[in-house]
Amino acid sequence: MNIKPSYIGELLAAGRLVLTTDSTEETEEVGRLMGRAINGPIVMTLAGDLGSGKTCFARGLARGLGVDERYPVTSPTYTIVNEYPGRLPLFHLDLYRLGGGEELEEIGYRDMQQQEGVIVVEWPERSDDDELGTDLAIVLGEEGPDERVITMRCLHPNVDLREQV
Ligand SMILES: Nc1ncnc2c1ncn2[C@@H]1O[C@H](COP(=O)(O)OP(=O)(O)OP(=O)(O)O)[C@@H](O)[C@H]1O
Ligand SMILES: [Mg+2]
Repeated sequence: MNIKPSYIGELLAAGRLVLTTDSTEETEEVGRLMGRAINGPIVMTLAGDLGSGKTCFARGLARGLGVDERYPVTSPTYTIVNEYPGRLPLFHLDLYRLGGGEELEEIGYRDMQQQEGVIVVEWPERSDDDELGTDLAIVLGEEGPDERVITMRCLHPNVDLREQV
């Protein structure tokens, strides 16, 4: 797969974009492209089964957002949230271990939103788009050992991404 910067323009124009990746590196690269395009505060969800590549996408996103390679981007399954310094503050969440929407308060979600950074949420199914304030909903589907279908949907018409990255 050849990852083209024009994908962001396509996503913004159609409100939806579907890509297929054939390796871990390619999924990271799609994340990186998204990270480079981010132009302001955004909430992005990453849905998909265990091992579908959510953390892999988030790792690329962090790099595209300028998070230094010195910071390893690892799964926040046990920490629930990992924070990284980038062009904008990055909050990487994994809600797998959360029970219900009310726990968002307990993990300080409102405070994170007020910091006007980038929030990327794995296992958003534990909450919902209204609670999370999702701008961009991404679903990763496993099609084969190394093949993943990545579907992205803009939930608002004015998602703040730059077309030229
Ligand atoms: N095209 C691909 N894109 C992403 N990951 C892939 C791809 N092909 C194989 N993989 C492998 O799938 C696994 C994805 O792991 P990752 O931790 O990113 O999943 P996850 O969706 O975050 O899982 P979890 O729900 O446990 O948090 C890795 O072992 C990765 O190497
Ligand atoms: Mg993960």
